[in-house]
Amino acid sequence: MVLLRKLTGLPAKLRRLARSLTAAQASPDDAWAAGHLTAGEWRVYVGMDPRDREHALRVSRALLVACPTASPELLAAALLHDCGKQLRPYRVWERVAAGLVPGRLACHFPVGALWVRGQHPELGARLLRAAGARERVAELVFRHHAPGEDTEAALLHHHDNLE
Ligand SMILES: [Fe+2]
Ligand SMILES: [Fe+2]
Repeated sequence: MVLLRKLTGLPAKLRRLARSLTAAQASPDDAWAAGHLTAGEWRVYVGMDPRDREHALRVSRALLVACPTASPELLAAALLHDCGKQLRPYRVWERVAAGLVPGRLACHFPVGALWVRGQHPELGARLLRAAGARERVAELVFRHHAPGEDTEAALLHHHDNLE
């Protein structure tokens, strides 16, 4: 069952990978994002790789279509959920490797890009708190891969996985 789910997700994963090879291929709608972020959150957002911003925008818009009453904090968290990745920008081969290694395995790598992939929810939350972001936004970013009982974080996790 798990294998079947992985195989069905493979074409989307490969499309995402092809889109992510160079930053120049990305054109995120930053003006739309700006309308949903505080000044501190915006500073963190613009530090993100354009490909991660574009991904975050797709997640945010899909979430908003599925859940038009999403809270402003959930929407901001969707825009910022991968912001922790900016602490260690990927080289091309690392981006490919990070896309192929499951997150739960990536956190066992002690250093480098895969470590960042494994730790980025926690790193992102720290970055946001240091920038003065809304606490709930930082909390949702922290939980976006392991939402537990948090229904808003679960919604973000779900739409991130569909992307
Ligand atoms: Fe993530
Ligand atoms: Fe993501």
